[in-house]
Amino acid sequence: MQFSVSQTPINEYQGQAVILFVPSEGDLPKASASVDAQLNSYITQLRQSQDIKGKVGECLVIPQANGPRLILVGSGKSPMQAKDFCKAITEAAKALKASAANDAAMDISDITVDGFDAEWAYKQVGQIFQDALYHFDECKSKKDEGAQKIESLSVIADNTAEIDLKFGQALAKGMAFTKKLGDMPPNVVTPSYLADEADKLATMSDKLSTKILDEDQMEELGMGSFLSVAKGSIEPGKIICMEYMAGKAGDAPHVLLGKGITFDTGGISLKPGAGMDEMKYDMCGAASVLGTMLAIIELELPINFVGMIAAAENMPSGHASKPGDIVTAMNGTTIEILNTDAEGRLVLCDALSYAIDTYKPASIVDIATLTGACMAALGRVNSGLFTQDEELAEELIQASTSSRDSVWRLPLQDEYQELLDSNFADIANIGGPLAGATTAACFLSRFTEGQKWAHLDIAGTAWNSGGKAKGATGRPVPLLVNYLANKI
Ligand code: BES
Ligand code: MN
Ligand code: ZN
Repeated sequence: MQFSVSQTPINEYQGQAVILFVPSEGDLPKASASVDAQLNSYITQLRQSQDIKGKVGECLVIPQANGPRLILVGSGKSPMQAKDFCKAITEAAKALKASAANDAAMDISDITVDGFDAEWAYKQVGQIFQDALYHFDECKSKKDEGAQKIESLSVIADNTAEIDLKFGQALAKGMAFTKKLGDMPPNVVTPSYLADEADKLATMSDKLSTKILDEDQMEELGMGSFLSVAKGSIEPGKIICMEYMAGKAGDAPHVLLGKGITFDTGGISLKPGAGMDEMKYDMCGAASVLGTMLAIIELELPINFVGMIAAAENMPSGHASKPGDIVTAMNGTTIEILNTDAEGRLVLCDALSYAIDTYKPASIVDIATLTGACMAALGRVNSGLFTQDEELAEELIQASTSSRDSVWRLPLQDEYQELLDSNFADIANIGGPLAGATTAACFLSRFTEGQKWAHLDIAGTAWNSGGKAKGATGRPVPLLVNYLANKI
């Protein structure tokens, strides 16, 4: 879809639809009032007759005999709350998509959002409209050719708004890539498939090159922990490194590392069957790193950024690890695998060691669908944030607030570390029934000592479960793109 900026007043728009905001009380915003005046107070009458009440997100689509369709969108009270603004824009995009119109004009210059500026609002518009176009029909034999589309949105604003609209659009393209990778079936999305997708991204930018470690190289590096997971599957594991170097030469890069378990059966500690299909989403951390990379390429952000993926399939087999096995990680730590279903941390820890050795990163954030415990604690609203670095916490929380991709900080105190004690090795890979999300983070912290490191547990936020709602969310791409964009 095409975003453009125009200074032609909305009441002179010659296209197929105009999106007009109608508050629940008080005067119409200027743009709506200008159309109202032209239409002999038609919108005012619709308000009086209660055909539109102005409730946030309420939509009324009215075809006109001569002129563009009116898409009236309820905007509640002024100033709008951020969540209400996003809801109104989301409903407007849905109404436009469902209508016969393929283009529209919109003017939000008179809409104020509590605590956020116009730049933010235009970014949201770019993101929300582009995101409204996501659909997954990759695996349907008959594509829905009648699917409504939006070809263009003209925003009445000064020219600087275009940069913000394009920022939001790039972000949503990244989210769409992340969602698609998540929604694709696990017999297609294997570690090798993810590696191929990384290679494809590298053809889009001369700033990006990829390096893919295979199992032989991992063997040489002593990555016994990663390999203990990958060896149960016939699909070879991969550590994928995407080096995007558009910043100052010599500046230490920021690293994002995603968990890429392309299917998590639990291994020998097999998961129950019900809903197990959803463990195809256990690569959503990896997918969010790929989506973030796509957005960064589109935006041509001048930063040094390495996107990494620890990709493997967790399967039970004659080659699989057993509970009680002890393996040695790349940094020399010995690990007693008490539960083969706690595999995410086992692949991530060696990738973390490799990232630290290879890139000496300015910061490193891992993103992982790591624990059911995090989902139990925070539901689908917040991703879990763990770090002992206050500055990094602040940066991530700020990026999360402005991108409306929320996180909640969970504890990572030293007092929890002893839950990982093992009788037979340096540490165990599980910490018992208490504080499961924290003990997983504690495990990773053993491999990131002295680093500017944070861990995001996205088990509850990366996808929606069950029935018709089932599907990847594209989170936390908004958070990650904003976090990196704030570096410049
Ligand atoms: N991928 C799962 C975590 C998960 C489960 C995410 C359900 C989203 C929904 C992870 O590999 C896992 O199995 N974790 C175990 C850890 C346990 C064995 C300590 C869990 O959370 O049950
Ligand atoms: Mn698991
Ligand atoms: Zn897992």
